[in-house]
Amino acid sequence: MLPPGPAEPPAIQSARWLLRPISFMASCRRRFGEAFSVRFLGFRTPMVMLSDPEAIRALYTERRHGLPPGRGVALLPVVGPRSVLLLEGPEHLARRKLMLPPFHGERMRAYEATVREVVERDVAGWPRGDPFAAHPRMQAITLEVIVRAVFGVTDPVRGARLRELLRALLDATASFGLQFGFMLARRLGGPDPLDKLRRRREQIDTLLLAEIRERRGAGGGEDILSLLLEARFEDGGAMADQEICDQLVTLLVAGHETTATALAWTLELLVHHPAALERLGDGSDPAYLKAVISESLRLRPVVPLAGRRLSSDMTVDGWVLPAGTDVTPSIWLAHTRADVYPDPFAFRPERWLDGASPPGYAWVPFGGGVRRCLGAAFAEMEMRVALAATLGAVKVEAAQAAPERVARRNVTFSPARGTRIVAWET
Ligand code: HEM
Repeated sequence: MLPPGPAEPPAIQSARWLLRPISFMASCRRRFGEAFSVRFLGFRTPMVMLSDPEAIRALYTERRHGLPPGRGVALLPVVGPRSVLLLEGPEHLARRKLMLPPFHGERMRAYEATVREVVERDVAGWPRGDPFAAHPRMQAITLEVIVRAVFGVTDPVRGARLRELLRALLDATASFGLQFGFMLARRLGGPDPLDKLRRRREQIDTLLLAEIRERRGAGGGEDILSLLLEARFEDGGAMADQEICDQLVTLLVAGHETTATALAWTLELLVHHPAALERLGDGSDPAYLKAVISESLRLRPVVPLAGRRLSSDMTVDGWVLPAGTDVTPSIWLAHTRADVYPDPFAFRPERWLDGASPPGYAWVPFGGGVRRCLGAAFAEMEMRVALAATLGAVKVEAAQAAPERVARRNVTFSPARGTRIVAWET
């Protein structure tokens, strides 16, 4: 017996999730409380959504739980079979151990100048005095940051080709058509909408393998690719070239759209909260800058679900969920709990000042446990530096008075109109 949930057929629940995810989850919370079960098209069993921080802690701290449903099928052709996003158990842990040091908080300083330079160059080309959508600019910025800081490709011709191919891969991954086509293909059988992705991935690998061959043994680079080339598993072995391609594309897929969207939301919230924008100024107060980012990731979590398949029974809110059940925190619901966050729907960076730090498992924009986001420190560094560089170069204001709605885009929640702003010279 699973907790109750909406009685509509899976097609209707899927449509509500795809088109109006926030109102869907909020209505489930109102009707069913802390834990509820939803049914999505293409999944054989229901998925249980949680929002109680203690239940989320219990879910994330059991390291034997498996991958969430669907992740493998949807991502495999894009990220490849050795991706840290897809492996499980000891194979997954071995990759995490090898990949964590390059992403350690203290190493992030090495990338600050790159982010600043990329942002300053992009912002210089923004229109002045005319409305435009900031989200696409943030996507261009985070893509460029990844090409430089993660892939470290310096050859201009190879760099240009790589950007073009990565852009095409990302566009194909993000399309609504793909998501929906994929759900239908799983249900009805039919042409595999992922074939196009596989072809794009092959072209990228050809280019990356050439880069890896040239760089093996060269040593010394600060970019993540160079660090992965030098990193060793516990048995002393290095990652194979093809696996390095998988991990690099994984970092791109996991780190590009997410960070761009988080930045787009932060700007969106700031332009609609002039007092916070004023207090932030050019971002030179590190405590307030950090508070703005924590609050933005709370109120507009970019990734709404980061679930697990239970490896053992779990008790939640009086229900015993059997092993094999798919369970996910509803990150948005967890972040808008009135018992943890007074006035939960207000954007108030001040709630994070005076030494207040995000309360454990009630703030989980990066998931948790052994699958917690590998790039969390990178993302926070990038957001911090990008915001300060932007606000140091231009003054921004909202292009429209009404705040933007949350729209689901692939696996993310993003601003429906792409963060329409107006920029002015400072
Ligand atoms: C604001 C930006 C970002 C957000 C909100 C975000 C969020 C997440 C979430 C929710 C997960 C799943 C965690 C779980 O299941 O417990 C995840 C996993 C992951 N993220 Fe991020 N992420 C961001 C940026 C990045 C960046 C910049 C990178 C790398 C450059 C990255 C790399 C990864 C990887 C490799 C995983 C898989 C970890 C694993 O399965 O062991 N992410 N991220």
